[in-house]
Amino acid sequence: MALKHIEYQGFRNLVDADIQFADGFNIIVGDNGAGKTNLLEAIFYAGNASSFREKEDHNLVRFDSEFLRIEAGADEERNAAIYLDETKKKLTLGGNSVPRISDFIGWLGITVMSIEDIWIVRGAPAKRRAFLDWTIAKISPAYTSSLIEYRKIVKQRNRFLQSLNEGGNKNLLEVFDEQLIECGNKIYKKRSAILPELKKSFTDFGTNFSMKKFNFDYQSICPDMKLDQNVLRRVRHREVSLGQTVVGPHRDDLFFSIDGRAMQHYASEGEERAASISLKLAEANMLHEARGERPVLLLDEVSAELDSSKRGILLGLVKGQVFYASTQMPELPSAAAKDSRFFRIDGGALEVS
Ligand SMILES: Nc1ncnc2c1ncn2[C@@H]1O[C@H](COP(=O)(O)OP(=O)(O)O)[C@@H](O)[C@H]1O
Ligand SMILES: [Mg+2]
Repeated sequence: MALKHIEYQGFRNLVDADIQFADGFNIIVGDNGAGKTNLLEAIFYAGNASSFREKEDHNLVRFDSEFLRIEAGADEERNAAIYLDETKKKLTLGGNSVPRISDFIGWLGITVMSIEDIWIVRGAPAKRRAFLDWTIAKISPAYTSSLIEYRKIVKQRNRFLQSLNEGGNKNLLEVFDEQLIECGNKIYKKRSAILPELKKSFTDFGTNFSMKKFNFDYQSICPDMKLDQNVLRRVRHREVSLGQTVVGPHRDDLFFSIDGRAMQHYASEGEERAASISLKLAEANMLHEARGERPVLLLDEVSAELDSSKRGILLGLVKGQVFYASTQMPELPSAAAKDSRFFRIDGGALEVS
């Protein structure tokens, strides 16, 4: 799939514009602070109605504007619009209003790669869960709904556990447990369905970047990614005394390894970068398989930290429509040149160059 054009108003520092894109490489060059990431963010927002780096939607509205509006059109006449102001957020697909964000997310498949991705490998477990959740959300609206429901259940259950801790009535525990088990297992089912393929392609892409063998394993207290009463019984005492739900999809992790050793302890920074890039390429591959079309790739200064041979490898591996933001003009593979467009961005103003 390719994003043909985007029109934005009141988005971050971007000067209002209506832009046509190439189906192949779109190269965006500009200095630090020019608005490169903001442009990629606008594209991502058009596809997912949320940002990849900002939790609060209203921070996306340009300082001097009361609202933001984005309209985007892809091939096969698919199009979407988002309007956001102080009081409302309106999503439309093909001109029809979409009340639930889970039905909007992913109308345009998008994978973002940025230098921040190293934190998926290096950072806290929440980063890895967020990666996994986003990947699945983009191919399954039902997964997003389950996640939202699950978070609610955990919150309520935690409150209940706290009340038990203060001597409250135990009778309702079974109800909360059943809810947790049912919803938790929906999430597990989806996660376990995508993991084998994601792992395989992560390892394959990894081989292209380094001579090392990358891998990851899913880590959970729940055996075979299944939540049941046995597991809950084992942690009951701890849960009540902490007033917290300590098992389930919201507590799991991915364990990354390089040649069989923990990546967090043994990988160099370059290897961690190679791993995070391989992971995003694996995500893009999965989206392609699941949706039958390649996602749009947003590369935000990914190559800045790579040596030139790895940069070349990366540019050869990315397929489909690519948005490549950098402070410097890259050397494109010769095959890519014919279907490319070059942009300069300065002070939020984007121009074809
Ligand atoms: N809501 C907003 N309104 C106006 N400007 C914003 C808003 N949010 C961020 N900015 C500005 O956008 C600029 C950063 O743009 P960014 O896309 O991150 O730059 P880069 O080209 O380095 O990726 C900063 O100058 C920041 O102040
Ligand atoms: Mg940036």
